Amino acid sequence: MNRIPVRSQDHGASLRGEGLVKNFASGAVQVQVLRGLSLTIDPGELTLVSGPSGCGKSTLLALLSGLLRPDAGEVHALGEKLSGSSKQALDRFRLQHTGFVFQGFNLFPALTASEQVELPLGYLGLRREEARDRAREALEEVGLGQRAAMRPEQLSGGEKQRVAIARALAKSPQLLFADEPTSALDAENGQRVIDLLHRIARNRGTTVLCVSHDPRLVRHADRVLTMQDGRIEADWRQRNGSPIEEAHA
Ligand SMILES: Nc1ncnc2c1ncn2[C@@H]1O[C@H](COP(=O)(O)OP(=O)(O)OP(=O)(O)O)[C@@H](O)[C@H]1O
Ligand SMILES: [Mg+2]
Repeated sequence: MNRIPVRSQDHGASLRGEGLVKNFASGAVQVQVLRGLSLTIDPGELTLVSGPSGCGKSTLLALLSGLLRPDAGEVHALGEKLSGSSKQALDRFRLQHTGFVFQGFNLFPALTASEQVELPLGYLGLRREEARDRAREALEEVGLGQRAAMRPEQLSGGEKQRVAIARALAKSPQLLFADEPTSALDAENGQRVIDLLHRIARNRGTTVLCVSHDPRLVRHADRVLTMQDGRIEADWRQRNGSPIEEAHA
């Protein structure tokens, strides 16, 4: 089998959702966004969840990362059961183990690239100099070593997104979540962001879960799950854009 070996010491899945149900109220009507969805996500590869706008991708990502609670079903992340944990425990879990990258970059206008990356490291209790060193390494890893002193207004969209990736990367999270990370970028910068996410998964053994309706991303993922109407419709692994096996969620 052509499959790329999983590098993590954890041989099991690092994220698992079971029977996930999520409803939202729309006026007086309850809309069922996720309808009993189950899946597992493995470390060391870039997993893409694709599907049309409104099918529930961001909702799924929010449930798997502990940002939202399911109405029914369970989420297990890195062996911990998230559903049922206190808000405090969830906040701590996210701080320690997860990184997030969003479409809108979410950078602070007044901070330099280095300060954006240092900030969460401070919350983790790192000393100032250590945070600065780690920020430099992370910015170098995303090719922005020369831009460390610049503020968002001085950076291009692609550079801003790479700062956001460096910020997520600097704390060496086991789980990296990306929601439409390329949607605001042109083809070249989008490609660069995807290559980076791919490399992080491969080289660090990180579990990278990316949700997007951008069809350009599909051929660059190791595994593709497609969603339709709140359920997983298809699930396959691929290499260089060609399917190599059915994955079993
Ligand atoms: N907080 C909320 N309150 C009410 N409805 C919501 C809420 N969040 C999401 N929804 C609804 O749930 C459905 C799924 O939303 P979600 O954001 O998960 O879709 P998506 O697949 O990420 O779409 P897109 O590709 O446009 O980002 C949508 O119909 C949306 O209107
Ligand atoms: Mg979305």
